[in-house]
Amino acid sequence: MRRRPRFKSVETRHYEERDELFRQLRGLDRRTFVKVSLAAAAAVAPKGLAHPFSFMPIDVAYAAPDAGQAFRIAYISDAHLYDRTVNDRFVRQLLRAVDDVNSLDPQPDFVLFGGDLAQLGRPVELTLGSQILKAIKAPVRMMVGEHDWYLDMGEKWRELFGEPTYSFDHKGTHVVVLNSVIEKDFWTARGMTPEQRMGTVAGLDNGIQSRFEVGDEQRAWLQKDLAKVPKTTPLIVFSHSPLYKYYRNWNFWTDDAEQVQAILKPFNHVTVIHGHTHQLLTNRIGNIAFHGMLSTAWPWPYAPQGLPALTVQMNRPDPFDPNDGLGNGEVRVHPDGLVDKVYNLWNRNPVQVSAAYVTSGGKQDPPAKPNLVSF
Ligand SMILES: [Fe+2]
Ligand SMILES: [Fe+2]
Repeated sequence: MRRRPRFKSVETRHYEERDELFRQLRGLDRRTFVKVSLAAAAAVAPKGLAHPFSFMPIDVAYAAPDAGQAFRIAYISDAHLYDRTVNDRFVRQLLRAVDDVNSLDPQPDFVLFGGDLAQLGRPVELTLGSQILKAIKAPVRMMVGEHDWYLDMGEKWRELFGEPTYSFDHKGTHVVVLNSVIEKDFWTARGMTPEQRMGTVAGLDNGIQSRFEVGDEQRAWLQKDLAKVPKTTPLIVFSHSPLYKYYRNWNFWTDDAEQVQAILKPFNHVTVIHGHTHQLLTNRIGNIAFHGMLSTAWPWPYAPQGLPALTVQMNRPDPFDPNDGLGNGEVRVHPDGLVDKVYNLWNRNPVQVSAAYVTSGGKQDPPAKPNLVSF
């Protein structure tokens, strides 16, 4: 006969509560919706883990009195949630990523969600995603992707998470989050419905949609935002699409990338972290280092035209393992503002792309190769 333990450790209770929360999220329907939300808050509050949880931009109170400290940002990106009655695999994969970042020790200062929370921009998808992300212990900052936007032009996303363009100061760095997935109007003249517009944008390689851009309005905002920042202050910029031109046919591309780069150029240390490409990707243009984020949903293949020279390729994922090639990761910010980018590939060793590797143009500290054979 099994003996019941006389008491449960704090850790055991934490994991039991977390498992219960995740069970509820897996069975999420309208009736349990509010209950789960409250459970998420209750799970962290008594342990001193509670943060002023908000998807909104960090406000002035969060600004840095203590310049030049090292800190960590975790990221989760490209969850592509459907309604879980259509596909619950991506839901489970996002839950795994939430669990991963909640287990990080030390905890990150904040978690950046890199866009494409939803697959087809539907309110049910975005709401499900927001509920899952509420289980993250650290503060969460949101970025928008094209899959979140083109059904209702961002209406639901903004209702849940606030404006997609913002900046804040953190421990001596200036952090900017952009909406880089603005497209020129290809739908009105064609008489497209919102669903047709969303479906067109979601299919990357059609010839109908325009290329992504940051656009005049946001570039003007960025100029103004950075005007008050000293050129010696390190910048960390988050964009959903890469802020350089990688592969046009799949919209792995930002059309006004050079104009955005010109705005960032006067700063000594600039790092751009992007989602959308679902793969290990490293680039450097002048003073700007670029790093891609992993997806929790699926890995994209590499572009057939070739890769930025600094990229250490992940192996072709095992087609029989639905979690291979996926993951989450960390951005480890040094006191000087340069970053080591860590790819936590699920079921593989992490791959760390260090600041020294990028700034030396690949001469120093080459990353370890991903640790599985290619398929
Ligand atoms: Fe994506
Ligand atoms: Fe995307």
